[in-house]
Amino acid sequence: VPRTERGYRCSSCGWTTVAYVGRCPGCQAWNTLEPFAEAPRGTAASRRPGAAAPAASLVRLGDVEGDTAERHATAIPEFDRVLGGGIVPGSLILVGGDPGIGKSTLMLQAAASLARGGLRVACICGEESPRQVRMRAERLGVADAPVDLIADPSLDAALAAAESAGVDVLVVDSIQSVTVEGLESRAGGPAQLAEAGARLLAFAKGTGTATLVTGHVTKGGEVAGPKLLEHLVDVVLYFESAEGGVLRLLRAVKNRFGATDELGLFEMTGAGLQSVENASAAFLAPHAPGASGCAITAVIEGSRPLAVEVQALAVPSALAAPRRIAAGIEPARLHLLLAVLARRGGIPAGALDIVASVSGGLRLRDTSADLAICLALASAIHDRPLPAGTAFLGELALSGAVRPVHQANRRLAELARLGLRGAVVPAGTAAVEGLQLTRVASLADALERVG
Ligand code: TYD
Ligand code: MG
Repeated sequence: VPRTERGYRCSSCGWTTVAYVGRCPGCQAWNTLEPFAEAPRGTAASRRPGAAAPAASLVRLGDVEGDTAERHATAIPEFDRVLGGGIVPGSLILVGGDPGIGKSTLMLQAAASLARGGLRVACICGEESPRQVRMRAERLGVADAPVDLIADPSLDAALAAAESAGVDVLVVDSIQSVTVEGLESRAGGPAQLAEAGARLLAFAKGTGTATLVTGHVTKGGEVAGPKLLEHLVDVVLYFESAEGGVLRLLRAVKNRFGATDELGLFEMTGAGLQSVENASAAFLAPHAPGASGCAITAVIEGSRPLAVEVQALAVPSALAAPRRIAAGIEPARLHLLLAVLARRGGIPAGALDIVASVSGGLRLRDTSADLAICLALASAIHDRPLPAGTAFLGELALSGAVRPVHQANRRLAELARLGLRGAVVPAGTAAVEGLQLTRVASLADALERVG
């Protein structure tokens, strides 16, 4: 596969290198190295003016080597889940997130696990000194893993070292902390970031090294951040915390090798990130039975069903235009459902401030939780709890009709597994063992059935 050659070339003797050096070892001249990027032969960029371009070659689709399907599994179940089964060799993976969320922790755990599995793994640690990394590794119980650290802040020097060591997996923590020499702008600035991204891409593709890069997201995102690199990389993962607690959500927003709706769930513990496999239990853990305004539902996150609780609060408002605060629910959806509740359910929220949120900091992405949201709102407005052990499934039409949801069976099975006893569901929903189903045709119907 032809690839772009990048590096530095001495302007006096033509000696080339991938890493910048001040003095050319070829002719001993100082400051004669100039960056170059050479496109593969046969492309427009390498054409000399006037010269006819050599014809490109044709490859029959069927003859192209397919996905080798080879992946390096990190043996961290939730990380592998989001990656789509593991890390693809030669891929460039960006892990973004707020400072302190756990990116470095996840990277070190993954690096250690891959290294223990027999791969050659190196970490460019620009954020922390090797001593700090060592202390973290001890805390994580991975200090004995054969991971190499590269502490050179110059990206070119670090990449040259990684290339000559022949690493299989390279971790760069973080992209904001490495510098590309020869550029005027400061480390972490947009020009630096873009250039560092381009070099990492060339490195990953050119050497077949799976490359994991972390990047800080700045609040508001106005400063140059990982967003700048999204188009360039193969996989973009974002790490976020749920309600500032110990739960950490890892989401794929782009994945050339897997699904993007997959959600990885971790718990930050004293000894690093632990994969949470019983995700529903984690989301329902803060559940306070008997409280008004709480309704349980089940959503499909990627490949798994997840039980979550919708929580609502209604309090008299002191404002002419009462407030509507939504977390995890689209504000527009909340307004729509309040309108349906007022008109079709006969429960106006009128002069009340309404707060609605989803447990665990999850964002609801489909409409299957409509019924649960409306019942949570109704329960909050009346300050009367919903029946214990009952879940709600269903999309609502503006008419107040309850519409079916996809994969209802899997959602209900998950609710039954968690020990719920009943569910209010759209008419026509098939029975599920262990759950008493109440089939309803409309919102008014559902309100009546829960009393
Ligand atoms: P870190 O991975 O450094 O975050 P990032 O690289 O995204 O900035 O995580 C730092 C936080 O995690 C810090 O607040 C301490 C906490 N932590 C634990 O709770 N347990 C651990 O085992 C480790 C290593 C960190
Ligand atoms: Mg870090």
